[in-house]
Amino acid sequence: MNAAKRLDKRIALVTGGARGIGAAIAARLAAEGAMVVIADIDQAEASAHARTLASATAQRVDISEPASVAALTHFISREFGQLDILVNNAAILDATPLSSLTMARYRTVLDVNLNGALDVTLAMVPMIRKGGAARRILNIASIMGVRGSRDSLAYSTAKGGLVNMTRCLACDLAPDAINVNAICPGFIDTRMAMLPDGTGHEHDTDWFKDIYLKYRRIPQARAGKPEDIAGPAFFLCSDDSAYVTGQLLLVDGGVSATF
Ligand SMILES: NC(=O)c1ccc[n+]([C@@H]2O[C@H](COP(=O)([O-])OP(=O)(O)OC[C@H]3O[C@@H](n4cnc5c(N)ncnc54)[C@H](O)[C@@H]3O)[C@@H](O)[C@H]2O)c1
Repeated sequence: MNAAKRLDKRIALVTGGARGIGAAIAARLAAEGAMVVIADIDQAEASAHARTLASATAQRVDISEPASVAALTHFISREFGQLDILVNNAAILDATPLSSLTMARYRTVLDVNLNGALDVTLAMVPMIRKGGAARRILNIASIMGVRGSRDSLAYSTAKGGLVNMTRCLACDLAPDAINVNAICPGFIDTRMAMLPDGTGHEHDTDWFKDIYLKYRRIPQARAGKPEDIAGPAFFLCSDDSAYVTGQLLLVDGGVSATF
């Protein structure tokens, strides 16, 4: 006899679920029994990942384009009529030095990383209201949304906005029994951590190994894996987080515990 899985009969949407952290979260939610919609700007990679999971489908979306978000909303409404779990994960990195940051670039980053997440959320809330008992929204922010750093104004400002959006949404949506939380990942090995010039991975550089690993600026002395985020994400999407809302969970090997 098959034991019931903990997310059986639940519909989940993971934006940016084609690769990296989103792909790991999508895989974990599907393994726990959810039907997962992997919505990503990269349709080919999203479809390839969906085919590896027991219960998943892929849809192309550009979360910064309202018409594209509307099409995704229409798809979920037509196919499922409800949504239980929304994971706002899709984002782009930006490491433009302040001296060359333009307002055009700043707006592009905020349109994806902050406004896109809000657009998807507003579009999905009516369907989440029709969801089951454990209604969850999880925003993937960043430790850069709670700390300042050089060459990251646009990205960090967007993530800081996402952090407080999480708290406000938690207040606004509590009457609908929708819990809203955020995970702030630290340094995670994904394509986002590739060096901008394409020469390799930030985590393989001498300075990263020196500061973060050798001198234990990351107390656990390793970069994270996407699966390190998927477990905490599952918790915040499960029945076990019933009394948790408006919270940030920093998943970073302890880097934010140091100074
Ligand atoms: N990797 C890290 O170290 C790290 C650290 C902190 C926070 N994060 C956050 O984790 C999340 C996932 O990042 P990742 O490291 O897996 O990055 P990634 O680049 O590997 O994956 C991002 C995914 O989002 C998709 N995407 C990008 N723009 C999109 C758009 N406009 N519409 C729809 N999909 C879009 C991409 O196609 C890709 O599949 C992001 O929110 C990121 O900011 C990552």
